[in-house]
Amino acid sequence: MLQDCWDNLRQKVIHHLNLLAGYETQPVLRGEVVVYRTFGRSNPAKSTAISLYSITRADENTGFGKLSREASLRNGKKTKHDGVETTTYDVVFYLEADFGTPGAIAVKNRGRREFLLKSVTLEVSENRSVHFDCNSWVYPIIKTNVDRLFFANTSYLPSQTPAALQSLRQEELANLRGNGRGERKEWERIYDYDRYNDLGDPDKGLHHERPILGGTRSYPYPRRCRTGRPLSNQADENAWMSDEEFGREMLAGLNPAVIRCLERFPPVGRGGKVSSITASHIEKNLEGLSADQAVELRRIFILDHHDYIMQYLRRINEQGVCVYASRTLLFLRHDQTLKPLAIELSLPGDGKGAEINRVFLPASQGGERALWQLAKTHVAVNDSGHHQLISHWLHTHAAVEPFIIATRRQLSAMHPIYKLLDPHFKDTMHINSLARSVLLNAGGILEMTMFPGKFALEMSSAIYRNWRFREQALPLDLLKRGIALEDPGEPSGVRLRFEDYPYAIDGLDVWVAIKTWVTNYCAYFYPDDRSVASDVEIQSWWHEVRTIGHGDKRNDEDGCWLPLDSVANLSQTLTTLIWIASALHASLNFGQFAYAGYPPNRPTRCRKFIPHEGTPEFAEYLRDPDKYFLEMVPDRFTTTLGLALIEVLSGHTADEVYLGQRASSEWTDDSHVLHMFQQFGDDLRKVEKRIEERNGNRGLKNRWGPAQVPYTLLYPDTSNLGAEKGVTGRGIPNSVSI
Ligand code: FE2
Repeated sequence: MLQDCWDNLRQKVIHHLNLLAGYETQPVLRGEVVVYRTFGRSNPAKSTAISLYSITRADENTGFGKLSREASLRNGKKTKHDGVETTTYDVVFYLEADFGTPGAIAVKNRGRREFLLKSVTLEVSENRSVHFDCNSWVYPIIKTNVDRLFFANTSYLPSQTPAALQSLRQEELANLRGNGRGERKEWERIYDYDRYNDLGDPDKGLHHERPILGGTRSYPYPRRCRTGRPLSNQADENAWMSDEEFGREMLAGLNPAVIRCLERFPPVGRGGKVSSITASHIEKNLEGLSADQAVELRRIFILDHHDYIMQYLRRINEQGVCVYASRTLLFLRHDQTLKPLAIELSLPGDGKGAEINRVFLPASQGGERALWQLAKTHVAVNDSGHHQLISHWLHTHAAVEPFIIATRRQLSAMHPIYKLLDPHFKDTMHINSLARSVLLNAGGILEMTMFPGKFALEMSSAIYRNWRFREQALPLDLLKRGIALEDPGEPSGVRLRFEDYPYAIDGLDVWVAIKTWVTNYCAYFYPDDRSVASDVEIQSWWHEVRTIGHGDKRNDEDGCWLPLDSVANLSQTLTTLIWIASALHASLNFGQFAYAGYPPNRPTRCRKFIPHEGTPEFAEYLRDPDKYFLEMVPDRFTTTLGLALIEVLSGHTADEVYLGQRASSEWTDDSHVLHMFQQFGDDLRKVEKRIEERNGNRGLKNRWGPAQVPYTLLYPDTSNLGAEKGVTGRGIPNSVSI
């Protein structure tokens, strides 16, 4: 009632003001506005204004039809028909004498919520009305910034449009087309085109990846309406073959602990043999530095698969594959990304120790570009073999097994170190046994799919010669590869030369968490160094590891082992072992499907060499480089077999127990130990937060490369109690269990 009184009073005041302003002789145009639906307590009568555009008289300044003053809605009457409630409002316009006939209306919603406007009907004379059939949501002006325009229900061809409406007609169309930019909001009415690039969602896992439809010969498709939302992570389907991704995967990929800082240029191999890569090959890409200056500044890196493959290469290729030994040089740019500089591919030459070297340089166009892509593919073949046989199998699965045997044989189940280590041995013996029977065995899957063939395990044996347990500690590994400097002020004892090295920076966080837990645990049970030296079980255990389990490394001239004569050395040794069994293995194992699940990115062997100019093969290659590439990488059978393997290996089981978890909460009755273990879990959760923060920092380019896969392989996943299983691409299980 009070509202009605107020509305009447307001209308009277407006009427009198119009009289005072001299509008008394001007036409009054009445109409009704029908609103279908409103939200909650929103009331269009309080917040909506309508203006009219003349169809017969143009505004000289704007070119649009002359615009009336605003009129508000009043006297809302609700009706209900077939369950649908509508409200009909009156509206009155006081027009200038020569306003003419309205042809469009502008509706301004000053409220907070949208409403569904059904129609506006204006009585322009006794026998004639103009109808605006709207049937459209009118959103608040604070969101849209422009009035909502509706034309009367009269149709005109463009050329027949009344002059006063032509500009409005064109502007409305331009608004509807948009400018191809920005993200669409629900209140916008922009109709733009896009490809089907938003069907996949690799963030949710590999099973959510889908190809982009439309715009390619492979996947023709009708276009969809563009939303402008961030694209599916596959927006660039060729990202895997870019130089950026090639370099990034050496820091955040499947085999991230091979790259090292080049200490002198040019590289020198076994027996003093100098690489064929010269300064003139690389200096144009060194941001103005000479090769020597770049080395001095520690900005040239090398992915070196040369020496150890060369020893076997003649025999490997005699099995019918076409493989090179490779060296790849890369430059650390100011944005901490790695730019490939040159690839050297080598084959055995005539005569003992002779080599035939070819150097390939980055190229972005034509035949040179295609050759460069072939060279990168041959490097990927080397790296995928090294990953599976050396980094993954030898350095984690095989290296841990002797520790398990020695633990079972020499430490009582009531020994505190037995209790510390036991969860880190879960399922390892079983999976290793299985691997030996179907993967690593003669004629097994690895020999069938990986380039070294029957020389696979033999080659890994040659590399074991240089394996040192002590250097498997992440800080030492980084020092050795020239990636970090000693820094006693850092919790890990080292400082990275560049921080956007996802494997290293996440790994150091995890390393410090493990080290803190193990150090506290050891200090709790061993009051001093003497108590370590006099622990007969732990000394027998260590003796057996070094002289039997890893007995081929028993001659310790090269510093393979730490003497187990202090609490500090015991802590460092156990931390290294737990690091290998948990984080190192996780970083090498659970990304296999993500990075190698697309075979062209990481083929496992090659069937063709790179052709030489002037040869029939080169002509064949020039005719169809894509065909040549497909004939170079493994055949369908080998590829399918390899894919099936890595999909199985990449999956977490439902009974996985992650770092910071135990299968039973009653694994010890010692409340202080349980408290320390709780702290370990808290530390790992802090690590998870830091990893999330880094992944949210788009300035760290190596975490999200052009393929838009974030680095999560060292994300501990402490809250995963097994419910999230399968290929998750993250999570650090306690043990080498797959
Ligand atoms: Fe594994």
